[in-house]
Amino acid sequence: MKILTTISDVRNTLNADRAAGRSVGFVPTMGALHDGHASLVRASVPENDVTIVSIFVNPLQFAPGEDLEAYPRDLDTDAALCSAAGADYIFAPSVDEMYPEPIETTVSLTGVSEPLDGQSRPTHFSGVATVVTKLFSIMGSCSAYFGQKDFQQLAIIRKMSLDLSLDVRVVGCPIHRETDGLAMSSRNIYLTADERSDSVVLNQALAKAIAAIDAGETNPTVVQNLMIEHIDSAVTGELDYAEVVDARTLLTPEVLAGEVRALVAVQFGKARLIDNMGTTINA
Ligand code: PAJ
Repeated sequence: MKILTTISDVRNTLNADRAAGRSVGFVPTMGALHDGHASLVRASVPENDVTIVSIFVNPLQFAPGEDLEAYPRDLDTDAALCSAAGADYIFAPSVDEMYPEPIETTVSLTGVSEPLDGQSRPTHFSGVATVVTKLFSIMGSCSAYFGQKDFQQLAIIRKMSLDLSLDVRVVGCPIHRETDGLAMSSRNIYLTADERSDSVVLNQALAKAIAAIDAGETNPTVVQNLMIEHIDSAVTGELDYAEVVDARTLLTPEVLAGEVRALVAVQFGKARLIDNMGTTINA
């Protein structure tokens, strides 16, 4: 496996691969990799001739006061995980390589970026969309693998790729969890022992919500209150949001129907955790 650090090295390498008829799979990440990230690499490997993982903690998507400086960074461990999962290349650029000058051009979003995390982190998704657009431009024609863990991010990337005619096939992959149900996240290492044991409430609240919907509940407020009540039982956590929405628009309908998604965000000390679960209501 090769580690590339410059944009021109990535372009030359992948252009040569494509010229030789090899298809490219791309897994964008911010590093501090875990088995959830590895599952994206494992999804790409059988579908593409070469797989490249980007590792870049993108300053644009962190608001002042968020954990940009504290965000865990360990390239050696990440490289070992990528190699074991079957990746061919890592792209690990410096901030200077990605942003040689103060940026004056960004991607602006409306629609699916507005509810949920869009309310709690108003500048976050524009930072994500801008860096992903840059990364897609650097990679060229490829299939790109994203986790449903960040369900709203995946919806935004899909819509952005369609709206801007980006030469990328966006692939959504299932959420990987610890054995007690906590969704794997690079931020889980921030949790104290008490916070870690309380953090299972996200998954449990979502499971309750989905069970209620599957049993016939179609009032989103009733389902939302079930989740809020359960999350409030966690002493160390503070609820940000618990919502049940239409899986396409990410808006809360008056009556739940079709494909729906329950999503939660909870602050545990330094760690803001998100999770989600879906179901389909058959008419
Ligand atoms: P990061 O949080 O490192 O996540 C990289 C990818 O891994 C995302 O697509 C995310 O949804 C996926 N992922 C994280 N935890 C997962 C889990 N438990 N199961 C399955 N997939 C999981 O998301 C970002 O980085 C950044 O915003 C990025 C897209 C790289 C732009 O900077």
